[in-house]
Amino acid sequence: MLLLCLFLLPCMMTGHLVIYIMVTIFVTISYAPPKIPVHYIASGISANSSALASHPLGPFWNLRLEDSALWNQLQHIWDRQNNPILKGNRTGMQRRPKGQSLKEIEDECLSDCLSNKCSVPRVNDFNSMPEQIRAFIKSMHCREYPFLINQPGICQRKNDSSGVGSPTLLIAIKSQVGNFENRQAIRETWGRSGLVRGDFNKKGGLVQTVFLLGRQDSSTGPHPDLSNLLGLENEKYGDILQWDFRDTFFNLTLKDLLLWRWLQQYCPTAAFIFKGDDDVFLRTDALLDYLQKRVEEHKIWRTYTNETVMNLFVGDVISNAMPNREPSMKYYIPESFYKGVYPPYAGGGGMVYSGSLALRLQEVSERVRLFPIDDVYLGMCLNRLGLSPIHHPGFLTFDLPGTDRNNPCAYRSVLLVHKRNPKEMLTLWKQLQNLPAQC
Ligand SMILES: *[C@@H]1O[C@H](CO)[C@@H](O)[C@H](O)[C@H]1NC(C)=O
Ligand SMILES: *[C@@H]1O[C@H](CO)[C@@H](O)[C@H](O)[C@H]1NC(C)=O
Ligand SMILES: *[C@@H]1O[C@H](CO)[C@@H](O)[C@H](O)[C@H]1NC(C)=O
Ligand SMILES: *[C@@H]1O[C@H](CO)[C@@H](O)[C@H](O)[C@H]1NC(C)=O
Ligand SMILES: *[C@@H]1O[C@H](CO)[C@@H](O)[C@H](O)[C@H]1NC(C)=O
Repeated sequence: MLLLCLFLLPCMMTGHLVIYIMVTIFVTISYAPPKIPVHYIASGISANSSALASHPLGPFWNLRLEDSALWNQLQHIWDRQNNPILKGNRTGMQRRPKGQSLKEIEDECLSDCLSNKCSVPRVNDFNSMPEQIRAFIKSMHCREYPFLINQPGICQRKNDSSGVGSPTLLIAIKSQVGNFENRQAIRETWGRSGLVRGDFNKKGGLVQTVFLLGRQDSSTGPHPDLSNLLGLENEKYGDILQWDFRDTFFNLTLKDLLLWRWLQQYCPTAAFIFKGDDDVFLRTDALLDYLQKRVEEHKIWRTYTNETVMNLFVGDVISNAMPNREPSMKYYIPESFYKGVYPPYAGGGGMVYSGSLALRLQEVSERVRLFPIDDVYLGMCLNRLGLSPIHHPGFLTFDLPGTDRNNPCAYRSVLLVHKRNPKEMLTLWKQLQNLPAQC
């Protein structure tokens, strides 16, 4: 019996092995990689160059290229153009100067950017798309718009008591020309520029607020001409940044891009940036405390690693969101424009990130196609940097539960609430100034 087993065992094992090999061979033979019709050649490389290995016809690193969606297609082109392996040794592997990639690719467009002569990317159902996405597609190659109002010196201005030039926290608020009341309420409450004390930690920091505006006058729609009033407001407060593009929902991403460029040029040493809407309430003092803690942690961390850049990005993080496919909705994104899940992003109303990260976002944004939803675009740029936004439960973009809204004590653990009109901002501000001790 034992002997029989000893003889049978090797036979069975060999049998299994033969079956395995046959299956493997069969699978290998029957598998054909997907074919793409054109042999893509990255710019600047001759197909004959013997110095370079030819790259495969099948896109093995991205098997699921969504070539039926415009954004994915355009992004794929940039990804290949910016891929150091595909690009080869054209420049002796030198790092190219910053900003050149975008310039090279779209030079011919940029000069015609504002005159609307540049060719519109082709997309099949263009004419059946809603007006706002069509307007976006027509101008999505264009990201340079001139200033109408600039504040070149604002980050060096505050130099009195503290002696420090650059702000600890730059508050950048997306506003619209007509929202005078929101801006004023913010200036009088949580967005007051100057030295601000922390909530617990009395150290606080220097706060500087700016408002980000596009153009809204008779040339961009049925708008009353408020430019003189805006000019007066800016004369008094000197905190308006305005660029010459139509201020629409799908153009909001431009405000982020242009803010980053402005930061790079005029305010590169700001420690942190809060970017938000003009209908939120921010507990600036509590945020300063929070940021102070992060800075201290980073200092400790730095002694163990060589990580000198602080990559902080905090907000109300939304993961695995899908594009909205309901054509009547504000956020509608057609399938022929974008396919896929959105990367994790900080949504609605406000988020805070470190100044050094803002400069990195500026750089990487030159390799990411414009996307009409600004929060998602920020998520895409972070994703490219290999970073994720950090979720903080104090960012209440969907507000407090109804019963807590009028209870000042409930705001103790809050950093941001959405949404509050100017009157509510003033009331809440007053209540939070004298919080009862039992809170
Ligand atoms: C490749 O080399 C052949 C023969 O030398 C030449 O005819 C052809 O034009 C070259 N192709 C490219 C893309 O340079
Ligand atoms: C790239 O080109 C430079 C100069 O032509 C050469 O010295 C270098 O070895 C090349 N590098 C690679 C990785 O081929
Ligand atoms: C700010 O203050 C410092 C020290 O008090 C001084 O050295 C510096 O020149 C000032 N900067 C500006 C722009 O006024
Ligand atoms: C964005 O602004 C540009 C420049 O004013 C304009 O041509 C374009 O139509 C705007 N896009 C949207 C989606 O409104
Ligand atoms: C940090 O950088 C220094 C000098 O550049 C190097 O000697 C050291 O090994 C680095 N330490 C770590 C943890 O990478």
